[in-house]
Amino acid sequence: MQLKVLLVAMRGSRRTYLAGLAALAVATIFLFLGPQILRITLDSVLANEPPRLPEPLLGYWSNLGGRTFFLHRLWLPAAALAATAILQGLFTCVQGRATARSSEAAVERLRTAMYNHIQRLPYLDMDRFSTGDLIQRCTSDIDTIRRFISLEAPEIVRTLAMLSIAVPMMLSMDPALTVLGLALVPVLFGFSLLFFLRVQRAFERMDESEARMSTMLQESITGIRVVRAFGRQRYEEDRFSQHNEEFRHLTFGVINNMALYWSVSSWMSMLQVGLLLVGGSILVLQGSVSIGVLTAFLTIQTHLLFPVRMLGRVLANMGQMSVALGRLQEVLRVPIEQQLDEGQRPEVRGGLSLQNVEFSYPDGSQVLHGINCEIHPGERIGILGPTGSGKSTLVHLLARLFEYSGGSIRIDGVELNTIAKRHLRSQVAVVLQEPFLFARTIRENLRLARAGARDEEIIEAARTACFHEVVNGFSQGYDTMVGERGVTLSGGQKQRLALARTLLRDTPVLILDDAMSAVDTETEAEIRQALESRRDRLTTIMVSHRITTLAATDRILVMDDGRIVDSGRHEELINRPGLYQRVWQLQHQFALQEEAAG
Ligand SMILES: Nc1ncnc2c1ncn2[C@@H]1O[C@H](COP(=O)(O)OP(=O)(O)OP(=O)(O)O)[C@@H](O)[C@H]1O
Ligand SMILES: [Mg+2]
Repeated sequence: MQLKVLLVAMRGSRRTYLAGLAALAVATIFLFLGPQILRITLDSVLANEPPRLPEPLLGYWSNLGGRTFFLHRLWLPAAALAATAILQGLFTCVQGRATARSSEAAVERLRTAMYNHIQRLPYLDMDRFSTGDLIQRCTSDIDTIRRFISLEAPEIVRTLAMLSIAVPMMLSMDPALTVLGLALVPVLFGFSLLFFLRVQRAFERMDESEARMSTMLQESITGIRVVRAFGRQRYEEDRFSQHNEEFRHLTFGVINNMALYWSVSSWMSMLQVGLLLVGGSILVLQGSVSIGVLTAFLTIQTHLLFPVRMLGRVLANMGQMSVALGRLQEVLRVPIEQQLDEGQRPEVRGGLSLQNVEFSYPDGSQVLHGINCEIHPGERIGILGPTGSGKSTLVHLLARLFEYSGGSIRIDGVELNTIAKRHLRSQVAVVLQEPFLFARTIRENLRLARAGARDEEIIEAARTACFHEVVNGFSQGYDTMVGERGVTLSGGQKQRLALARTLLRDTPVLILDDAMSAVDTETEAEIRQALESRRDRLTTIMVSHRITTLAATDRILVMDDGRIVDSGRHEELINRPGLYQRVWQLQHQFALQEEAAG
């Protein structure tokens, strides 16, 4: 099941990958020709034993003139050794390139698939994963997979190829010596497998600790101002040293374990070599084994021991790889948002009709209860309500950033959830309560709303949002970088940039979710006026905590605890007891006091 993700990602590069593995097998064959050349040279050229060769080769041997021929041309075995080494190198190189090329391509595809899927995840499903977690899935988890397919899987194939060539080769030369030569190999393999399975957990703990440390680092660097403002540097430093020390401690433990592993397994390898050498020498002295055969065995063994030592590690890492694949799949399994272009595209004038609208968050908390209201095209609506009363939630429903779970919302008579999302969002524009600016130029941030916007249009939108003058104050104008490595905009400037960005879409419905809270009242009035003249019939919905803003609208909806509890014009609402009146009194009295104080 998990492998399916991998197989899909490898589509298109599977052949290259398999060709790489085949080249690896060929390279292994050439590697093991070396010991045979040594054996024949020692036994049948230097000594005088009949060569043990397969039939066609034996024919060549006698046709050339047998032993005497080679005895006068000792450079020939040397050249043959060199040739096998070169061919082995050549095929290893081919293998390296092929597996690298195909696995990098697969990994690139995997990364793209993840990125595109994340881009299309439904708004609310994003909450299931934290940002750091998603980043880790797209980077280090993918890297684990990359390591496996480009390095570890070929390593498994190499070891298997080696064993399947070496063991029959050894058996054909001398069964008794084969037993001696492989006696400790299963022990070595078992030890390596058990060891790496055991330290696997330590590796994971080290990774987790590193992730905690980098999350903390990222958070405190991003929040450095808050840290300074509260004078919490010392506290943060202490917290960081804790993480840092924990990481050092875990890393040290792993390194210690590894040191132990390498010494014990080296010792076991030496024991194995010693066993073959001593046992083999005894057999040579007894005359049952030739020097050439013993030399061939010793050479084969050198090639074999290291891969066997590594095999345990590679197999243990397979666990890591399947965890990583599982983590990718967890994201890829979340169904993506319905196609943005699926649905009808009605002409929108800006009339909204909400009937019994209900909404619950995935955690089960119902936030909106039976919302009813009619908004006419061109009407200016204000929304007031205490914190948490559901204003932003309602706003998200109107642009279908969330889907309402009950009731009906119609725009000019068309049910909202039958309209193509992209189309709807080109008709209903929202300035979100927490606008996000990218660390790009002002122009690029604005063009996010409409990639093809002309400069005049950009300036027009910026003028309406009272942002053009701000931009003119920067030496690089619209090409000024904002955010990190650029100018730092004030809270109100950011909000005006976000507003200008939304205005670029020039939609019949405009929703401002408390989007001018940081803009001073005078500038805000100016913006409202500019908006008015911008489009003859613009339906606006302004969520605000400011009475001066709300007073300028045609009708105000008062929300409390997910319900509309009152609605009417400013003059009506201040004259009847209720939430609106209380807020008005508070703000009004405050304004009067200010005036009196001069
Ligand atoms: N993603 C979410 N999952 C679960 N509950 C949420 C989620 N987002 C908001 N809520 C809850 O929904 C309720 C309404 O939140 P909402 O953001 O709509 O309030 P609001 O009226 O816009 O408040 P404010 O004036 O502070 O902006 C709150 O109780 C909030 O805790
Ligand atoms: Mg809100």
